[in-house]
Amino acid sequence: MESPFKGDVLKGKVALLTGGASGIGFEISRQFGIHGASIAVMGRRKSVLDSAVSSLQSLGIPAVGFDGDVRKQEDAKRVVESTVKHFGKLDILVNAAAGNFLVSPEDLSPNGFRTVLDIDSVGTFTMCHEALKYLKKGGPGRRSSSGGLILNISATLHYTASWYQIHVSAAKAAVDSLTRSLALEWGTDYDIRVNGIAPGPISDTTGMSKLSPEEISSKAREYMPLYKLGEKWDIAMSALYLASDAGKYVNGTTIVVDGGLWLSRPRHIPKDAVKQLSRTVENRSRATPVGLPTSKL
Ligand code: COA
Repeated sequence: MESPFKGDVLKGKVALLTGGASGIGFEISRQFGIHGASIAVMGRRKSVLDSAVSSLQSLGIPAVGFDGDVRKQEDAKRVVESTVKHFGKLDILVNAAAGNFLVSPEDLSPNGFRTVLDIDSVGTFTMCHEALKYLKKGGPGRRSSSGGLILNISATLHYTASWYQIHVSAAKAAVDSLTRSLALEWGTDYDIRVNGIAPGPISDTTGMSKLSPEEISSKAREYMPLYKLGEKWDIAMSALYLASDAGKYVNGTTIVVDGGLWLSRPRHIPKDAVKQLSRTVENRSRATPVGLPTSKL
């Protein structure tokens, strides 16, 4: 789909994306690049990085890949510094790296729980921590008088509760909390905007194939009235909005991009039945004035 944004909304910007070589992260990399940004992607798998970089370069996007694990502070530091060395500065950090699998709490080892928190929550904090020096107003290489942007990819799982996702729910709740705390503190002190995006189920992603295999998602559609799959493009467009000047007054928020799915509830009474039921109850209460003891009627 064509972008509704002008092609130069991110002209001259440098973005570093963890998990930016695959899935939603890659689509954000691609759209940021198409709209003028230079792109550095970070990931653990060299072959995935290489193919992402050549695909970005084939679109004329200045792109580079750095291998690293967000769980390792030395990797985070090295990748942030390499990005600045390569492109001269850093304007945007996108934390899209995530770990996930379905598991019931009783089958999840504390190490499994910790692993996902290490990637999603601690990894996000570590990247922000290492990038601060370059993102803050007046940081090395920054010609503009404003600070940069941090974008954290979150989820909606923890707004209520989600089956078999206790680890990811906890991890993303922490990510949302980081988004708000950093928006407050680094927004005030360093002019850095910090926002998040909470995607719903997005087609053609690892998350979707891991968490909602086809047979499960078609069943879910039956009882979730708002059930619709989103596209990676939907998330990338929200990211573009937040990263461009259109989002310059947005700080500390996590935009839900899920078609309203997290609000879904099974419809327990059909619409026609509710009309009838409601009238009947209404008429009954009119016939029985409230507050009058029934013995007086
Ligand atoms: N069910 C239950 N426990 C699981 C599990 C599963 N499907 N997969 C991993 N674990 C547990 C392991 O058993 C281990 O715990 P233990 O030491 O107590 O046995 C712990 O999690 C770490 O697993 P390990 O395979 O060593 O971690 P890793 O660092 O190689 O991989 C994951 C991290 C598990 C998060 C892996 O799924 C991953 O790399 N994911 C990245 C991609 C991704 O998930 N993207 C989805 C985005 S929505």
